Amino acid sequence: MIFETHAHYDDSAFDGDREQLLEFLAAHGIEKIVNVGASLKGVEDTVKLMEKYPFIYGAVGIHPDEVGELDEEKIKWLHSLCSHEKTVAVGEIGLDYYWNKENHEVQKKWFVRQMDLAKETGLPIIVHSRDAAKDTLDIMKAERADYLKGVIHCYSYSKEQAKEYMNMGYFLGIGGVVTFKNGKKLKEVVEYAPLDYLLLETDAPYMAPEPYRGRRNCSAYLTYVAQAIAEIKKVSYEEVVDITRKNARRLFGV
Ligand code: NI
Repeated sequence: MIFETHAHYDDSAFDGDREQLLEFLAAHGIEKIVNVGASLKGVEDTVKLMEKYPFIYGAVGIHPDEVGELDEEKIKWLHSLCSHEKTVAVGEIGLDYYWNKENHEVQKKWFVRQMDLAKETGLPIIVHSRDAAKDTLDIMKAERADYLKGVIHCYSYSKEQAKEYMNMGYFLGIGGVVTFKNGKKLKEVVEYAPLDYLLLETDAPYMAPEPYRGRRNCSAYLTYVAQAIAEIKKVSYEEVVDITRKNARRLFGV
C-alpha cells in the first residue's frame, strides 16, 4: 500500500470527479493521503476533506506565493487547526523565488512564523523551496529547524544540499520529476540518498510522471514514481513502497 505524502485534492482541477476519484484511489492501493493546504481557502477545504475521508490527513499552512493574506489573526486560526486530531503537519511553507509573487522579506517572515507554529505544536513541517536554496537552508539553520522534523517537498536541489537536509533529519519528497528524461539531477539525488530518507509524493494535480507528463496528476500514478526509484536504487518496487510508507508513518505519526 502506497502512502501519498503530498497532494492538493482541494484544487479545482478535481471539482468534476473528486468523490469518485478519491474512492477509486482508496480501493486501488493508496492507503493514506496527506492533503496539503497552500492558501487560507485551501486549508479550509483540507479540513473538510480530512473530516470526510478516513484515509485523508491534513497539513495546514500557507504557501510562500500566498503569504500576503496572512496576519496574526490568521496565524491564531492555523494554530487552532494544528490541534485537530487529523492534522499531521504544518505546510506547505517556505520560499519561492521562481514565481516571486511575494517580496522575499515577506516570504521569510512568514516562513519563520509558520515554523514557530510547528515548534509550538510539535508537528513536522512540509517545506516548499523553489530557486531559493541558500536562503531556505540559512533560515532553517538559524531557526534550529533540526529540532523539528519534516520533509523538503518536491526536492529539486543538489546532492550536497540533500546531505545537509538529511543531516538535519529531514526527508526528501520525490515525485514525477524522477521519471522525466531531463530529471538527471534528481535521479542523482535519489541514487545518493538512502531509501530511509525518501517519501513518495505527487503534488497532484501538478507534476504528473511519465507517461502522463503534462496531464492532471493523481496518487495512482505514484506507481510510476516508485518504479523509477526502484530502478535507480536497484531494489524491488515492493521495497520502495514499503520503506517509503514506513518513513511517512514515522514522520507523520499515523
Ligand atoms: Ni504542493
